[in-house]
Formats: sequence, structure tokens, C-alpha cells
Amino acid sequence: MFSFQTLQKIPVVCLMLMLLAACALCDVDIHPHDQWLSFQKKHIKKDMEIKRCDAEIKKRSIFEMKEKVKVCKPVNTFILSEASNVSSVCESGEKCGEDGNLIKSKTRFDIVVCRLNKNCKYPECKYTGRKLTKKIIIIDCKGGYPVHYNGNNYYCNN
Ligand SMILES: *[C@@H]1O[C@H](CO)[C@@H](O)[C@H](O)[C@H]1NC(C)=O
Repeated sequence: MFSFQTLQKIPVVCLMLMLLAACALCDVDIHPHDQWLSFQKKHIKKDMEIKRCDAEIKKRSIFEMKEKVKVCKPVNTFILSEASNVSSVCESGEKCGEDGNLIKSKTRFDIVVCRLNKNCKYPECKYTGRKLTKKIIIIDCKGGYPVHYNGNNYYCNN
């Protein structure tokens, strides 16, 4: 990609930035089935209730890393369905937008959106849950598995 001469001219800082950028893409290499298991852990609970946000998020160890420190995840959505119904969206859904992996469901799902309350500090993550019914969901599919939840009211340019 780069000749040796070009590389020599790139300042060290630049190289480090490139390495960081490459690392941000590291999770692309995780096997889709493992990502699907992680998706299920974060986003699927058939009998989810709004009052269970704090408990489920804690039990399932759902958090984010910020500068190598665990922080409360700002929003986490639970789909009230079976894993098989969610994974079938990968085949039955409609392609969404230009990015080939985004799929919009044709079937509708009830969801519980857990939103972090203000001034919460990990591990005391307190959420307010809201139930939404019959929503179209947008997911990322890889190798036929849902690997990323993208929301319930995304715009697709098609
Ligand atoms: C899952 O899919 C089956 C078969 O289409 C359907 O009968 C069932 O109601 C679905 N379950 C939920 C929770 O949506």
C-alpha cells in the first residue's frame, strides 16, 4: 500500500493513529456466532418488564468501556421475543440503506428501551424503562446472524 519512502515521511503520531484506527476494527474478526451470542445476552428477553432494567443490565454485565474504565451503558434495548424470531429477520427482513449488513425487520417486535438516568456512576447504573409495541427493528447481520442492534426508528434510504 505504501512505499518505504512514503512510510518514512509519515510522522510517528500519524502511524500511531493509523494503528488505533485499525484496532477499532478489531472486533470485525470476532466470529459472527459469538457476536450473536453476545447480541442475545444484551438484547433478547422474552418476558422483559420495564421495572427490570437495572436488574437485567447488572445480571448480564452490560456496560461500556471508556478510556479503559467501565461506565454505565447509556441505552440498552431488549427485544421481547425468542432468539429464533430475531435471527430470522436476517433472512426475512429488508436491506436497509447502502451498508449491505443493515436489515430492517418486516415483522414487528415489542421492545423495552432502558435509558440511563442522569448522574449515575458505574456500577450503580439506574435506568428508566419504556415499553414500545409493534416496532420495526434494525439490526446488522453477519453470516446469517444478528450481530448488532441498530435501533427501532432508523431511516433507510430505500
Ligand atoms: C415467534 O415466531 C412464531 C412463528 O412465526 C410466532 O408464532 C410467535 O408468536 C413469535 N414469538 C414472538 C414472541 O413474537
